[in-house]
Amino acid sequence: MSDQVVPSETNAASKVDERQWVPRALAFSIGRISQNMIRLPHFPEYTRGDRWVFVKDGGWVGGHWVGLLWLAFAYTRDREMERQARKWAARLSARQSDTTTHDLGFLFELSHVLGANLTGDEALKGPALQAARTLTRRFNRQGGFFQAWGGLDASAAQRGGAIIDTMMNLDLLFWASREAADSYFAEQALAHARTCLRHQVRPDFSTAHGADFDPETGEFIKLSTYQGLSAASCWSRGHAWAVYGFADCYRATKDSLFLATARSLAEHALGRLPEDLIPYWDYDSPLIPHDVRDSSAAAILGSGLLYLAALEPDSALAERWTCTAGKILRSLWENYTSRASLEPSLLIHATRSKPEGFMDHGLIYGDYYFVEGLLRLSDPVMASNLH
Ligand code: GLY
Repeated sequence: MSDQVVPSETNAASKVDERQWVPRALAFSIGRISQNMIRLPHFPEYTRGDRWVFVKDGGWVGGHWVGLLWLAFAYTRDREMERQARKWAARLSARQSDTTTHDLGFLFELSHVLGANLTGDEALKGPALQAARTLTRRFNRQGGFFQAWGGLDASAAQRGGAIIDTMMNLDLLFWASREAADSYFAEQALAHARTCLRHQVRPDFSTAHGADFDPETGEFIKLSTYQGLSAASCWSRGHAWAVYGFADCYRATKDSLFLATARSLAEHALGRLPEDLIPYWDYDSPLIPHDVRDSSAAAILGSGLLYLAALEPDSALAERWTCTAGKILRSLWENYTSRASLEPSLLIHATRSKPEGFMDHGLIYGDYYFVEGLLRLSDPVMASNLH
């Protein structure tokens, strides 16, 4: 256990008092989302100084922008937010048949399923269900994993690549199985989760970003990385995806293996957080403490811990996840928001990919999970109906 994580607070009154910052952080976030809503011509991905860098078709991040609009609508009930969320969701809709990405979960869960859950609009479900069908085409039966890179006819090296980020795309498949009353989707999701657990979750519950397989035989070849320091390191955002993704698997199955995995992954992360609880971009960077942080990893971990807390049958652990998540999100609010800078994102000091030279900027997915976490702190009942 990390000695930075203070024991749980039991006094309800002081807990309320401790959370006074949450509505302020939400007010700031809603204001910034409203400004972006008026100005953005395309889907935002990351910031360069005072501007967003766009990705026209939404890339893998379009769902996060639409999802932010839905979260803002959930909090404010502002009909203009809803109108904008619907408009941007429609712009992503053509991607429902895109076989070139494993990120259809990010794209359609946050744009269409979230919108359907919030509004009750059944019409938003159709594109999400089709996206789930499309995603199943990337499943490698021999290896039991979803192909991370390239199209269906990509090189063998690409077709054999799996990454830990895919854990976040499985929930669309669990949703599709419930929606279509067809276990096919969930079976693939569970096969992928088990493969990830077998190869990418190490005995000490650190995680490897990538795993390479022979795409024809499914044989495991080696661990790898794309955005982390090395195949042997623990990339902090990938690890946060894993905490959240295994919690998704537990929610869908109630299988105690997935609960135990999510708990141990969470403990591993908490044991490696620095004093202000915002991870460095890779937990194994030899440059720590003189390296860059990844505020997006903190936001994903913070919201993921609150999600895990809501599923957690052990009340002491639920309190631990909640208390720690509150501290992580508060640290983001106090020292990693753009309140005193020019970035149009909510969070600053994120790292898209240090190996590719992208660091110390805002990221739309950091913003999404920051607001999702704030809503989970602010109104856990409402938030439990979103995801
Ligand atoms: N899914 C890609 C990333 O986390 O950067």
